Amino acid sequence: MVKIAVILGTRPEIIKMCPIIRACEEKNIDYFILHTGQHYSYLMDQAFFDELELPKAKYNLDVGSGTHAVQTANILTGIETVLLKEKPDIVLVQGDTNSVLAGALAAVKLHIKVGHVEAGLRSFDRSMPEELNRIIADHISDFLYAPTETSRQNLLKEGIPDEKIFVTGNTVADAAYQNLGISKKHFNILSDFGIGTKAYFLATMHRAENVDVKERLRSVLEALQSISGRYGMPVIFPMHPRTVKMVKQFDLSLAGITVVQPLGYLEFLQLEENARVILTDSGGLQEEGCILGTPCITLRDNTERPETVDAGANVLAGTDTGSIIRLTERTMTDCKTWTSPFGDGDAGGKIMRQIIYG
Ligand code: UD1
Ligand code: UDP
Repeated sequence: MVKIAVILGTRPEIIKMCPIIRACEEKNIDYFILHTGQHYSYLMDQAFFDELELPKAKYNLDVGSGTHAVQTANILTGIETVLLKEKPDIVLVQGDTNSVLAGALAAVKLHIKVGHVEAGLRSFDRSMPEELNRIIADHISDFLYAPTETSRQNLLKEGIPDEKIFVTGNTVADAAYQNLGISKKHFNILSDFGIGTKAYFLATMHRAENVDVKERLRSVLEALQSISGRYGMPVIFPMHPRTVKMVKQFDLSLAGITVVQPLGYLEFLQLEENARVILTDSGGLQEEGCILGTPCITLRDNTERPETVDAGANVLAGTDTGSIIRLTERTMTDCKTWTSPFGDGDAGGKIMRQIIYG
């Protein structure tokens, strides 16, 4: 029987690997979870294991935060030790974080097969650490699980053989479909916040190129303050710890924005589904908005999820205050509907079947 190492390290990886972990549990697969510890605060990490009832990671490297080189190097050496001991047949990594880069690299050097979940995404902006991580991970992987035909085409254009590529949909859709019902049974986040359906904006922001640059961060916060006033609706902003740190460091004002701690996934899904508009620089939120039928304004100049823009679910605003306000106005008057390009919610099943049956 095939033995699988599921490597994860950050909030989105836990959420997007959840359908694969659940499939491993259901099918009694020989697998283990290796957590790098890139995310470690309770609300960025353990909260998701608790809510989603995921089994505890067999290994946690506890690498914590650091520069790219330090963090990646610590993950790389930690993973090598575990892989030498466990000798899995295949390592699965998901997405584009430093944990993914190090996980794929450690495995391929030990001649262990690598499966990259969410392969083939490209922003074509190599100044982003995520773009470098995903390009390298794709080129050293044996099995590339591309969420859409667009991502498959990106891989083919870079010379990756077609036999290695499997279009599966995105496990983010599986996670949303599996958990929305569970969420509604356990939470009523709108009533907790005292807000009405489609009567608030939902914002998140954490990308290094945005929040680590004072002018860009200030410009977005000003847009959010202005939008809230203009429409008389709250902007709910569950704030990533990186952003909290930078807002403090730059001494920026959050007046008029409802800043809350990062939320559990089950609560957050409800907030996304019922928001009037999502404003974000998150990759996962662009996808989830598109899946849940909530329009998204992306606070970036590019996206590796162009399918959401093509579908009519997402627009790129960058971080300019005026541009964000203008696109919000336009989005508020549009009444578009669209079909999600991210699959039917069986990406995890397709990936597991490919691993087991080839
Ligand atoms: C990382 C990923 C990014 C992903 C994001 C998901 C890389 C290069 N970046 O960005 O692609 O979109 O995760 O959220 O891999 N911090 C805490 N507690 C935590 C984690 C982080 O306080 O549990 C703070 C620390 O101050 C840390 C900072 O956030 O220095 C940044 O953390 P890091 O993991 O380096 O990058 P993210 O911005 O979280
Ligand atoms: N998310 C969450 N609580 C929050 C904010 C986000 O559960 O307060 C979830 C969200 O539903 C999505 C994922 O975290 O599945 C996105 O993570 P993040 O934006 O940190 O990373 P990215 O997707 O940009 O890599």
